[in-house]
Amino acid sequence: MARRAIVAANWKMNGDLALVDTMISELANVELQENVSVVVCPSSPYLSELASKVKSNNLSGIIHVGAQNVSEHQSGAYTGQVSAKMLQELSVEFAIVGHSERRCFYKETSTQVAHKVKAVLKSGLTPIICIGESEAERATDQTETVLAAQLQPVIDKIGIEQFVDVVIAYEPVWAIGTGKTASSEMAQETHKFIREFLAKANETVAAKVPLLYGGSVNASNCEELFAQTDIDGGLIGGASLQVEQFTKICSAAKGK
Ligand code: PGA
Repeated sequence: MARRAIVAANWKMNGDLALVDTMISELANVELQENVSVVVCPSSPYLSELASKVKSNNLSGIIHVGAQNVSEHQSGAYTGQVSAKMLQELSVEFAIVGHSERRCFYKETSTQVAHKVKAVLKSGLTPIICIGESEAERATDQTETVLAAQLQPVIDKIGIEQFVDVVIAYEPVWAIGTGKTASSEMAQETHKFIREFLAKANETVAAKVPLLYGGSVNASNCEELFAQTDIDGGLIGGASLQVEQFTKICSAAKGK
């Protein structure tokens, strides 16, 4: 079964217009393997510039634009929020939802994440749903319980059938920005659990969902991680700000 690989750059609150330019020119020359999509998620002020550069450089088939966050609401008195429809108008195709930094610093709950996923799908964008356990949760054997509790509200809200249009990023919180990557065996074991969890609801759908790994992925560890059976690419933070590293990571991904 063909499952596409995705390499997504999460710039977080970093980067500038110059990085948009550099990223475009470097990614234009990157050699990708079959069935790979690259998604670049800058801060929202840069989305429009990135989208228009992607278009004017004829890179729409290679580079997709993604947002780092989105509102669960369609419109209204929500100062500072951005709706999925607004993103769609800017040719944004993906939206990261439920990143651990949003769950931790902005107290986003899994129910809110489920509402956001629904709003994103309604506007025709693809959500990249982030899930992951903390160090303490892994240490106390709660990883699977935590991941299941993060996923179930989304399944309940949108129905498992809609997961054919969803991407999941497994990001152990203790591996984000710390330089501590999960070993490829540990990552594979957890990705397998996630796929099996989805398969309990619908096996055919579960086999189609791209599962990305995130947490200190770099040019040296990406190949081994991407070679794992249930790992379909990565969500890259720090290394996505270094164009040379990021293009290497993109070249290492391959559809399964
Ligand atoms: P990192 O971030 O690659 O810097 O660990 C990943 C992420 O937070 O998406």
